[in-house]
Amino acid sequence: MKIIKATDYNDMSRKAALIISAQIINKPNSVIGLATGSTPLQTYNYLIDLYKKGDLDFNQVTTFNLDEYYGLTKLNKQSYYYFMQDKLFNHININPNNIHIPDGTNQNVEQECLKYEKSILDAGGIDLQLLGCGHNGHIGFNEPSEVFFTDTHLVNLTESTIQANKRFFESEDDVPRKSYTMGIKTIMNAQKILMIVSGESKKEIVKKAFFGPVTPKIPASILQLHRDFTLVVDEDAFSHCE
Ligand code: F6R
Repeated sequence: MKIIKATDYNDMSRKAALIISAQIINKPNSVIGLATGSTPLQTYNYLIDLYKKGDLDFNQVTTFNLDEYYGLTKLNKQSYYYFMQDKLFNHININPNNIHIPDGTNQNVEQECLKYEKSILDAGGIDLQLLGCGHNGHIGFNEPSEVFFTDTHLVNLTESTIQANKRFFESEDDVPRKSYTMGIKTIMNAQKILMIVSGESKKEIVKKAFFGPVTPKIPASILQLHRDFTLVVDEDAFSHCE
């Protein structure tokens, strides 16, 4: 586990964007796993800047998003599909055929999960997976549990995740209760994992996840066992660890 300390959110985002861009420069046809949420927003802005300056080319890049709400269509502004188009894909030269996000409208759960796993395998596996960290230590939507989940699956979101995500919806009732998510095994199979964490509200979970025991009760803790895991964390989020 490599820990890179950043001064603040902006510094964390710049460092993360540089790590992702180094991956793409080294391997132009990289397969990159992406996350939604608030944390990666500025990282995506930096990647867009690098593209606009001519320093980064997404033409051959393939992406797989971690998760998608169950039941939301691509046109729904709260869907992760919409989020990714709006925050990143519409602003770079990625080939739309190379973008993969679970289909939240597919009610055939088994088919959707198998299809997603197969697409990742067919693409040659994920080279670099970007992750944020939930306040309860979730990664993707792998919530705290008694066992580590394996492949892509449909998950019931916990009350704490529903509360954390309701800020994006008109009312709490509108927050979907289920989501497709890559599993822990899917995530751990990535060649490299890059997690970004920022802000005081994450300081307790950073300490528990990376300076405590590996346990499915804190899903992010499993990243300690990954062979090439980098945590880029800002001072506020790291403040309990020193
Ligand atoms: C999003 C995702 C989630 C978020 C996590 C942190 O695709 O998989 O695990 O990374 O909920 O969210 P933020 O960044 O909003 O604190």
